[in-house]
Amino acid sequence: DWSVEQVIEQQVAAIRKQIGNKRAIIGLSGGVDSAVAAALVQRAVGDQLTAVYVNHGLMRKNESAEIQQAFGDSNGARLIMIDAEDEFLAALDGVSDPEQKRKIIGDRFIRTFEQAEADIVAESANDPDATEVKFLVQGTIYPDVIESGDADGSKVIKSHHNVGGLPEDLEFELVEPLRQLFKDEVREVGTKLGLPDEIVWRQPFPGPGLGIRIVGAINRQRLDLLREADAIVREELTANGLDREIWQSPVVLLADVRSVGVSDGGRTYGHPIVLRPVHSEDAMTASFARIPYDLLDRISQRITSEVEGVNRVVLDITGKPPGTIEWE
Ligand code: XMP
Repeated sequence: DWSVEQVIEQQVAAIRKQIGNKRAIIGLSGGVDSAVAAALVQRAVGDQLTAVYVNHGLMRKNESAEIQQAFGDSNGARLIMIDAEDEFLAALDGVSDPEQKRKIIGDRFIRTFEQAEADIVAESANDPDATEVKFLVQGTIYPDVIESGDADGSKVIKSHHNVGGLPEDLEFELVEPLRQLFKDEVREVGTKLGLPDEIVWRQPFPGPGLGIRIVGAINRQRLDLLREADAIVREELTANGLDREIWQSPVVLLADVRSVGVSDGGRTYGHPIVLRPVHSEDAMTASFARIPYDLLDRISQRITSEVEGVNRVVLDITGKPPGTIEWE
């Protein structure tokens, strides 16, 4: 029998036992999982926890500002912002294999947390319990564990950056208080812990960000293009009141594909953008969201006229299975 209060109580006790009086760090992605994990751990050990937001250059338009605002206001935890865009993009340079991208991003996150550790230790120079940051808190939820093939050694579907994508020489001990929960349960816990609706009901966004929404190699120009297309989609869905109704609406750039088009009477040879709006209960299965045709038309017209280099918009109507929600 599942009750939110019970889950919170049990996890707070377990976290206190695990962390003791040591220091912990958590990476905030802006998504609900890491926010709820942070709130739980903060309830358990207070300011022994430091939250870190890493700008890896794979975020959506305005996302960093939105996250800073949302967390600055609502979450009492100490928040450090780290700009690691150059390091992430250099590490990803020329890489187009999806699993390799995921491993590189997972690895870079850890290296960035290790750098943050040095700052935290330096700041608490007089505290004998703060000579190191021993624990890394992660918002891993049950579906992440299953899809990374970690639950029972079964087949890997994709290595979620915080499970199968971790480096082998990880020096932090992991704290994963949501590991047994589904997303709807995580949202209940978040609400109970007092997190605001704009965090609890934010659409899921993967830790590797737009890095796994560019099919092909990643570079700044491609990221900027995708950010523009994605911003248009989000703007239109919000304007039409569809945010909550739709589980998630990834926008994908097929960077390795080009097709012929026509604009102002001249030939174009541009990239397609894929819309992937889905309904889901827990991200384990999904079906495509039936967005009104007129709205799709408007999105398509806006993207092809406002985003340079894109001359085609396609709609992904595949269920999960056999598709996954993200393309990589
Ligand atoms: P798929 O693509 O496997 O995605 O159907 C299921 C859900 O998980 C999200 N996702 C991730 N989240 N790190 C994350 O934090 C990851 O590496 C990752 N990969 C996929 C995806 O956005 C969807 O909500």
